[in-house]
Amino acid sequence: MASQVLVAANRGPLSYALDPDGTLTARRGGGGLVSGLSAALAEQPGALWICAALSEADREAVRRGVAEPGVRMLDIDPAVYDDAYNGIANSVLWFTHHHLYDIPREPVFDAAFRRQWDSYVAYNGAFAEALAEEAAPGAAVLVQDYHLALVPGALRELRPDLRIAHFTHTPWASPEFMRMLPDDVREQLLWGMLGADRLGFHTGQWGDSFLACASTDTAGGTALARHARGGQPAAVEHRRTGADGGLGPVRETVVEAYPLGVDAEELRALAHRPEVDGKLAELRAEVAGRKTIVRVDRTELSKNILRGLLAYRELLTTRPEWRGRVVHLASAYPSRQDLKVYRDYTDAVATLAAEINAEFGTGDWQPVLVSVKDDFARSLAAYRMADVALVNPVRDGMNLVAKEIPVVSEAGCALVLSTGAGAYEELAEDALTVNPYDVTQTAQALHAALAMPEGERAERTKRLAAAATGLPPARWFTAQLEALPART
Ligand code: G6P
Repeated sequence: MASQVLVAANRGPLSYALDPDGTLTARRGGGGLVSGLSAALAEQPGALWICAALSEADREAVRRGVAEPGVRMLDIDPAVYDDAYNGIANSVLWFTHHHLYDIPREPVFDAAFRRQWDSYVAYNGAFAEALAEEAAPGAAVLVQDYHLALVPGALRELRPDLRIAHFTHTPWASPEFMRMLPDDVREQLLWGMLGADRLGFHTGQWGDSFLACASTDTAGGTALARHARGGQPAAVEHRRTGADGGLGPVRETVVEAYPLGVDAEELRALAHRPEVDGKLAELRAEVAGRKTIVRVDRTELSKNILRGLLAYRELLTTRPEWRGRVVHLASAYPSRQDLKVYRDYTDAVATLAAEINAEFGTGDWQPVLVSVKDDFARSLAAYRMADVALVNPVRDGMNLVAKEIPVVSEAGCALVLSTGAGAYEELAEDALTVNPYDVTQTAQALHAALAMPEGERAERTKRLAAAATGLPPARWFTAQLEALPART
């Protein structure tokens, strides 16, 4: 049966593991996109989530036809998928939007890049075709993230009747970084996005970056960006040059911020399951009454875990009074390990943590406890007991951890938050804010956070939790759905 509401995202709500005896077990995917969307879709019966098979186990699940109801996994040729996901989405687009390139060496756009780009076009095409196949007339389609930037444009060509939104979970690159991409690639990306009726971003800042790029870099047509004014949302008015050289019809793409928040009730219920209580008891035994600085991230370059550890080391060096009295619980679970730059980063995190432990540790005190397992129950237990939360990304679409910790914290938690997090727009006032590159400032903020009086900490945490729950996933999703143009 054709669907009225469709979501397209590279990662699905579940991924499978294949046991040696041939059994398939499903587990929830990681990252902010999956947690937000899964919660939102739980309240949208009948919606269809189209995602890619990410692994051989997922492909096996497709072959056996075991996918969950409401989910369609696309079995894309593994070589094409690898080029599109690892080659373009994670190595080029992720690095561009997060400004992560090591500029003297990267990026290099050569023949291998061109092959990968062709795969990215094919992979986006496969999503557009599946959506075109599954969507009811006039259906609403919500496309997610940088993996699928070409889908709105491709889908509009196949099915002009559909109402199409795209949401970016990452930042959007500044025009300077977008201009590093080959001209034709940058234009394809922008025109792909402009195929949508509406583009959503986590913050006004990322939306503004898109507007700045769209108004200056859309050869192959005309585009005029309009900033939000007097109750009117921002938009790009555009006309694309057709194959015959003439300009196509005027279309408008509205650009709006939907800052994804947390569902407090659901998160607190999750954080009080017996499994989490058990983990909390374990952690309390390990920490033995000391203060805790907690961070939870994918081991991800944009999260700035290394400078976080350097700041902790500087804290222990310059403020010896904290030695033996604080433990840094750093949960840094593996991510994108197909990419060497991520494997190297993971090793660097482990090495630096070991150095700090060797330098300061004593017989009964280990200063940093790194956990590399993606253990959501343990993370929630750490959230509950955190005295200080450290969220210091260099650039991050939102960062839900910054929002989750204040909601779950038991005794109040001081939040050290960098200006690079999208969450900074909503949480700056009650956080201790830092420049993500300034290790000394971060060390000072950690000290101020540890020393913050309990009453002030509790008051700030209450206000942070209120701000963090302003737009919970279900409302974030329906707001975007309802904002789509009415059916014609
Ligand atoms: C970010 C992206 C998501 C992605 C997640 C995990 O939150 O915006 O699209 O799913 O990271 O990354 P992965 O590559 O494992 O899907």
